[in-house]
Amino acid sequence: MTDTTNDSVQTTGGAQRTNILEGDVAIVTGSSRGIGRAIVERLATDGASVLVNYVTNDDAARDVVAAIDAAGGDALAVQGDVSEAGDVEQLFDEAEAAFGSVDIVVNAAGTSVCGPIAEFAETDFDRVFDVNAKGTFFVLREAANRITDDGRIVDLSTVGTVRGDAGVGPYAGSKAASEQMVTALADELGERNIRVNTVSPGVTDTDGLIMSDETVERMVEQTPLGRRGQAADVADVVVFLVSNDGRWLTGQNLRATGGWEIGW
Ligand SMILES: NC(=O)c1ccc[n+]([C@@H]2O[C@H](COP(=O)([O-])OP(=O)(O)OC[C@H]3O[C@@H](n4cnc5c(N)ncnc54)[C@H](OP(=O)(O)O)[C@@H]3O)[C@@H](O)[C@H]2O)c1
Repeated sequence: MTDTTNDSVQTTGGAQRTNILEGDVAIVTGSSRGIGRAIVERLATDGASVLVNYVTNDDAARDVVAAIDAAGGDALAVQGDVSEAGDVEQLFDEAEAAFGSVDIVVNAAGTSVCGPIAEFAETDFDRVFDVNAKGTFFVLREAANRITDDGRIVDLSTVGTVRGDAGVGPYAGSKAASEQMVTALADELGERNIRVNTVSPGVTDTDGLIMSDETVERMVEQTPLGRRGQAADVADVVVFLVSNDGRWLTGQNLRATGGWEIGW
C-alpha cells in the first residue's frame, strides 16, 4: 500500500481510493465477474455508488458487494437478464430507489459463443444476438430515458469487429450492431451533455475468454505491448471515459488491446 498525505486519496487493496466520482450512481451490467467486476469495483473505489448486475451467479455478485463494502464503498446487487426489457427497467428502478438517480451506465454483460459459421447453431446465434445486440439496445434505451443530464454511458464491444478471426463471426456481428447503436445514441444525447462511448477489449483474462491457449499465445505474439490484457486494464479505460478527464469524448470506440489490431 502506498502512503499519501492527500486526504482525498487513500489506498484500498491495489487501487487508490479517490473521490473523482463522488455523488455519482453507476449501473454496471454483467459485473459479478470478469471485466464488469473490475469496472464496478474501480467505479466504487473512485467514489460512485454502484449497482452490481448479474444473471445467474448470486454468490459471485454477493462477493463483489462484500468486497466493495469492505473497502468502504456503497454497492447493491440486482439479478436481471439484459436480454429482457422488464429486467433492464428493474435495474434502473432499483438503482433509483436505493441511490436516487443514475448518472453512469456501463454495459459489460455479454456472451461469447464462438465457432465456425458452417457449424454454428441457430439457437447459439439467437442467444448471442439476444444478449449482445438486443440486450445492448434495451440498456441503451433505458439509459436514454432515465440517465441524468451530464450522464455517461459506456458499452463493451470487442476488437473482433475490427479484425475478425475465424470463429468469431456471429459474436463479432452482434458487437458490431452494438457499436452502431452507440454512435447513434451519442448523437441523440449530446444536447444533454450525455457522453456515449464504446470500449473494445482485446484478449483479456476472464472466464469469458474461450479461445484455445494456442490462439491466445498467437494473439499475444501479435500484440505490440506483448502480453494478454487484464480486466483492470480495461476498467481503467472505462473510468477515464466516465470521469471528467473524458469530457470531450463521445461516440468514440477506444480499443483496449495493447495494440493487437495494429500488430500484424
Ligand atoms: N474477455 C475477453 O477477452 C473479452 C474480449 C473482448 C470483449 N469482451 C467483452 O467484455 C464484456 C465482459 O466480458 P468478460 O470476459 O468479463 O465476461 P465473463 O467473465 O464471461 O462475465 C460475464 C458477465 O456478464 C454477466 N452476464 C452474462 N449474460 C448476462 C445477461 N444476459 N444479463 C446480465 N448479465 C449477464 C455474467 O453474470 P453471471 O456471473 O451471473 O453469469 C458475468 O457477470 C463482454 O461484453 C465481452 O463480450 C471480452
